[in-house]
Amino acid sequence: MIRSVVRGVGAETPRRIMHNNDFVNLVDTSDEWITQRTGIRQRHIASDDETTASLGEAAARKALSAAGMTPDDIDLIVLATSTPNNTFPATAVEVQHRLGMDHGFAFDMQAVCSGFVYALTTADLHIRGGMAKRALVIGSETFSRILDWTDRTTCVLFGDGAGALVLEGIEGETGAGARGIIASSLRSDGVHRDKLYVDGGPSTTGTVGKLRMEGREVFKHAVAMITDVVEDVLGRAGVTADDLDWFVPHQANKRIIDASARKLGIADEKVVITVDRHGNTSAASVPLALDAAVGDGRIKKGDLVLLEAMGGGFTWGAVLLRW
Ligand code: UT7
Repeated sequence: MIRSVVRGVGAETPRRIMHNNDFVNLVDTSDEWITQRTGIRQRHIASDDETTASLGEAAARKALSAAGMTPDDIDLIVLATSTPNNTFPATAVEVQHRLGMDHGFAFDMQAVCSGFVYALTTADLHIRGGMAKRALVIGSETFSRILDWTDRTTCVLFGDGAGALVLEGIEGETGAGARGIIASSLRSDGVHRDKLYVDGGPSTTGTVGKLRMEGREVFKHAVAMITDVVEDVLGRAGVTADDLDWFVPHQANKRIIDASARKLGIADEKVVITVDRHGNTSAASVPLALDAAVGDGRIKKGDLVLLEAMGGGFTWGAVLLRW
């Protein structure tokens, strides 16, 4: 049986950091409100020369270096984003070109904050189906470009960045004890479309649009949706929350992460938190958090790692893997 194993991880954040106090001259808010309600202390904001493609390329190069590979070794790129450089072509194809690749194939995945979990699952299926041998899975976003900077209920929450993984298909054992992706669970339901959306697009307004969110409504659904897919992957893998070494959730709000971990019975010390440094970076948040926890030596080879995300659509999903 073929199993998709993680060979390397990398991340890139824009140079400019915006702290909570930097918002007080823009909108009616405070460091205290943002910190207490969200856990966010700062976020990175892209400058004009930093784009979803440039950040994605930089994260991909770091992941390749960590894997000891070059672009020649890769035959698939799946890039999760809701803030592509252009409506088309896919930002994944631009990253492919920037990496100097003229072989293989690349495409974008659009599932908003769940994008990375969707992309990882899609790349895993391509590898296990024999369509690709080694894949770059990238989450890259520049949400600062679609924020309404006069709306205090959204502009303080999001940030920019990118993270990437190299996945390789290997022949070997299956089951929860072996390395690689063990189980995935994906869900969506368009009934919640209006609770988190962008008010523009090519086929409607002909504009890019700005992000709109009923935060309290999203919050109300988040914990139930997250626990639903997490319980599904744990059940299908035949493991329990106690077996996990690390829980790497989507980083939208520390209160959502804490409530989900509590409901799932996952101990605080197993939860990776980066929302304080990055804010909500949508499809980039899970790989940015993975990069942080691998970089500081917490996540090690052989660890059982649970990823989850939830976002606009709504979409939600979880992936269980052995690092
Ligand atoms: O990644 C995709 C998924 N997205 C999410 O997971 C986001 C989910 N939602 C949330 O994280 C939270 O709902 C928020 C952080 C967005 C808001 O926290 P909340 O505890 O749900 O606050 P709220 O929306 O109920 O607002 C409480 C008060 C309101 O004032 P009133 O009506 O009580 O007078 C808001 O107008 O806080 C006010 N408020 C602010 N005050 C200062 C909203 N934004 C701000 C702000 N600064 N930036």
